[in-house]
Amino acid sequence: MIKHEVFEKNSLVLLAGIIVTVAIGGLVEIVPLFTIGETIEKVEGVRPYSPLELQGRNIYIREGCYLCHSQQVRSFRDEIERYGPYSLAAEGIYDHPFQWGSKRTGPDLARVGGKYSNDWHVAHLLDPRAVVPESVMPTYPHLARKELKAADIAEHLKTLTIVGVPYSDEMIENARADLVAQATLDGDTEDLLRRYPKAATGDFDGDSTRLTEMDALVAYLQVLGRMVDFTTYRPEYAQPGSAGGSE
Ligand code: HEC
Repeated sequence: MIKHEVFEKNSLVLLAGIIVTVAIGGLVEIVPLFTIGETIEKVEGVRPYSPLELQGRNIYIREGCYLCHSQQVRSFRDEIERYGPYSLAAEGIYDHPFQWGSKRTGPDLARVGGKYSNDWHVAHLLDPRAVVPESVMPTYPHLARKELKAADIAEHLKTLTIVGVPYSDEMIENARADLVAQATLDGDTEDLLRRYPKAATGDFDGDSTRLTEMDALVAYLQVLGRMVDFTTYRPEYAQPGSAGGSE
């Protein structure tokens, strides 16, 4: 007798077989999530987005940048040589929703922060062909014209605390002030930088008289991949005294 004949001739046995198979598949996917709290190691430097960066991120999502750009350097040699250190789980811990993406019409942006000047980003977003002649990226001139609307930024931070982003009461209270301070040339950024270390500050869009959507988007692009200092970062498994693994 062929071994699977019993399944083919008896629908109840087949049904039981399906249930067992699907259950195994489900367990394999679900059980590891029970330990997700321990498996994502905390990494120094990863902090919630500043209000201006967060607003820039919203514009990034609104404009659909993720349709052409991923934000995840995979742990393959060619990717690391092109983009830099592979992405860590912790780097996406405050991304709701995450922007890993699945399509690379353009390059990965996970480590684009600091790669170009603010001026380059502005010129590129206004007209990509002006700086990269063969580019197929769309133009985004409206971003420089549109005033940044962020009246509800404090509520936005507050909402993110519900899904676990550790914005403190102080951060929420000062959200609007921090947003303006970050995009002001020679602004008072002492408190901002205490709350959001290493945030890039200044006039991002080249027009210091206005706060535009361009300011926010460029501030966001400039923080991508910059929170963790990879000159000192060592994975937990490679720390002296921990079990297994070497560098
Ligand atoms: C239709 C696909 C497409 C869309 C949508 C798109 N891009 Fe691009 N992007 C590209 C391509 C292709 C390149 C490479 C050529 C170039 O530099 O312009 C690129 C390059 C870039 C670069 C330079 C990356 C590097 O490392 O050199 C940045 C930054 C960038 N895009 C940001 C954005 C942002 C922000 C948005 C949304 C406002 C966006 N892109 C939307 C296709 C796209």
